[in-house]
Amino acid sequence: MPSPESIERVRAGFLEDLARAASEADLRTVRDRYLSRKSGLVPALLKAVATAPADERPRLGRLANELKQKIEAALAGRVQALEAAGPAVEAVDVTLPGRVPSVGRRHPLTILRERIEGIFLRMGYEVLEGPELEDDYHNFEALNMPPDHPARDMQDTLYLAQPIVSPTHTATVLRTHTSGMQIRYMETHQPPVRIIAPGRVYRRDNLDLTHTPMFTQVEGLVVAEGVTMADLKGTLAALARELFGPGTAVRFRPSFFPYTEPSAELDITCTTCRGSGCAVCKRSGWLEVLGAGMVHPAVFEAVGYDPERFTGFAFGMGVERVAMVKYGVDDIRLFYESDLRFLEQFPS
Ligand code: PHE
Repeated sequence: MPSPESIERVRAGFLEDLARAASEADLRTVRDRYLSRKSGLVPALLKAVATAPADERPRLGRLANELKQKIEAALAGRVQALEAAGPAVEAVDVTLPGRVPSVGRRHPLTILRERIEGIFLRMGYEVLEGPELEDDYHNFEALNMPPDHPARDMQDTLYLAQPIVSPTHTATVLRTHTSGMQIRYMETHQPPVRIIAPGRVYRRDNLDLTHTPMFTQVEGLVVAEGVTMADLKGTLAALARELFGPGTAVRFRPSFFPYTEPSAELDITCTTCRGSGCAVCKRSGWLEVLGAGMVHPAVFEAVGYDPERFTGFAFGMGVERVAMVKYGVDDIRLFYESDLRFLEQFPS
């Protein structure tokens, strides 16, 4: 037999259950427990009221119906509140220290490239950029590399399947070096020439400690009457001192490039041991940083300069290589992995 007290007990039980319910699933369980037509406590209560003595029935019926309405309203309110709050409602702890927004910075290769540009700008050079998709004439042929030259092999060079539609493109390559910019500039300018051309270059190399299929070079070219190898050496010695510190010495080792004669590779004093010999420089005291030489007469002929009148020098350096030597980085891939723990170590 229901009584005002038993109705009140159901109400109190409901409030407790509702307070404990934290999710929509919990709320469904509570609804079933109280409102389910078959097994809910409230329908059972209403059924029992029907059997109560006639004089108590109206009052008990009113109490039971009021309870039913309150339970329905309370459940609907909680469901709505849960939906409005979204899936992850977390309390905000206003006493936590704020998060400092991280400020972006330039990539170490960009910093170094701009530094190299600054050094040459101060020496009166012009900085220019050119296309990364290059025709075989500018990348190879005009640089004294005929069609059967091994550097043009598909094993070493990335070719487009279809050349760009253009009168100069019999084949289109991802430029393998920035030396094509020597030709592009001389084709359109008369001496004296004093330029550098920075940019990305591509080679068919697999990733390892010292190779990436894309890297950055800075090309240099100086042409005038009476330019000698001493000018080349003086220029690169000045560059090395500015980049690696005043005590840095340079040396030339004989080398070969089809577009320079004589050709040389430039070494600098090892930045780790300062010349006494260590693991980094393989005990030699020297590190190789770039290739250079005196412009080959065949190159001048290709661009219509008189090789009897003009001489010049050219050089090409890998910016990643310079960065590795300068900062003691032993894995070139780090420059391309976008790992902030690495990138944040460089002065900006
Ligand atoms: N192009 C050469 C290289 O990619 C570097 C170089 C440039 C050598 C100019 C001599 C003159 O290695």
